[in-house]
Amino acid sequence: MKRLNDFRLRMGREEMVPIMIGGMGVDISSADLALEAARLGGVGHISDAMIKTVADRRYKTKFVKAKQALYKYNVESEDKSPVKFNPAYLAEATKLHVEATMSRKTGSGKVFINCMEKLTMNAPKETLKVRLSAALDAGIDGITLAAGLHLGSLALIEDHPRFRDAKIGIIVSSLRALQLFLKKNARLDRLPDYVVVEGPLAGGHLGFGMDWAQYDLATIVAEIIQYLKAEQLDIPVIPAGGIFTGSDAVRFLEMGASGVQVATRFTVTRECGLPDDVKQEYFKANADDIEVNEISPTGYPMRMIKASPGIGDGIRPNCEAYGYLLDANGKCSYITAYNRELALHPGERRISVRDKTCLCTQFRNFAIWTCGQTASRLKDTTLRHADGSFQLLSAQHVFEDYQFSTDDKIRLPETEAAPAV
Ligand SMILES: Cc1cc2nc3c(=O)[nH]c(=O)nc-3n(C[C@H](O)[C@H](O)[C@H](O)COP(=O)(O)O)c2cc1C
Repeated sequence: MKRLNDFRLRMGREEMVPIMIGGMGVDISSADLALEAARLGGVGHISDAMIKTVADRRYKTKFVKAKQALYKYNVESEDKSPVKFNPAYLAEATKLHVEATMSRKTGSGKVFINCMEKLTMNAPKETLKVRLSAALDAGIDGITLAAGLHLGSLALIEDHPRFRDAKIGIIVSSLRALQLFLKKNARLDRLPDYVVVEGPLAGGHLGFGMDWAQYDLATIVAEIIQYLKAEQLDIPVIPAGGIFTGSDAVRFLEMGASGVQVATRFTVTRECGLPDDVKQEYFKANADDIEVNEISPTGYPMRMIKASPGIGDGIRPNCEAYGYLLDANGKCSYITAYNRELALHPGERRISVRDKTCLCTQFRNFAIWTCGQTASRLKDTTLRHADGSFQLLSAQHVFEDYQFSTDDKIRLPETEAAPAV
């Protein structure tokens, strides 16, 4: 049987190991993780989600505090429309993260940035333009357009000097979404350099409704490959969602895919940005501990571990500090849900909001544990310490397991001493 390493991911003149580690928001796909993928010849992603929070943590800036201080007067107000992002600070934070990452890059692979359209930031077009342009200015190898149809995103950067030289790809979950994207952008004469086809078993937000279980990644990938062939469009197709072993990946490459995007198996690596105690929760999760729910204010269903402490947490909206999900009118469905519960429970110190979550704050605190469906198999990918805890993996170990394994085998790591507590 073939190994994933028998294939190469080609983008233009470049050739890579066909493994892309997917973007995982708010620094879960950290620079360290992305850089390992690049060092090993594949593609890694950083993410620009809540970039000011990431910059403050990593580069000791004070963006969040400054924004919070500026809009402190608005905290009690239901109307968040005055809370705006300063484009100069947004650009600065993005540049800091991208430059710091790219300056450490080694190896023949690439580092891309995941940019989600659903981070509408109370001025969707303006902020997205700043985010994309700043990432290009700072030397990112490529941009993956995520969480949205991105019908107008390419036009926002068509005048950027790197518009045709940087790699730009899009994540879709259906042929229809891809067709729309291609049609809307036809006048730019610039095809995407790759298309990630994300199926219903992925982590993060899903490009499906609550009927996600009726869809199947292989079927969507086959449809898209067939369409691109018929149209004579040479765009690499990269399936994502539920690809757990090198052999799972090989099956997609044998049907004509050019690479795979994977994420869940890397959530339990040392380089991943999740706190170590949360990584243990990922290891422990069984299939019935994982659900797809609709608590994300983006309107997309999201898969997560049911025990995520952010579920049901009725904290006061924190848009003055964050505000990444405010729509073009300064609204977010968590604010509406929170105010409804507040009115129903006057005077109560702690209220619970079950139907929506304050995603910014909860992600900032690593309190929504989003994962792919296969997280329930993570426990089979490592060893346990004497105290019952799971041994973390290195990103290199997981990457090479995808790259070289055959027959659906998973290679276990060497035994390590338990970390001192
Ligand atoms: C913890 C976690 C966070 C994620 N966050 C994002 C994100 O911010 N943006 C995005 O486009 N996809 C996100 N995803 C989806 C992954 O990039 C990837 O496409 C998908 O999870 C691949 O499926 P797998 O996890 O089964 O390997 C996330 C996935 C996980 C597990």
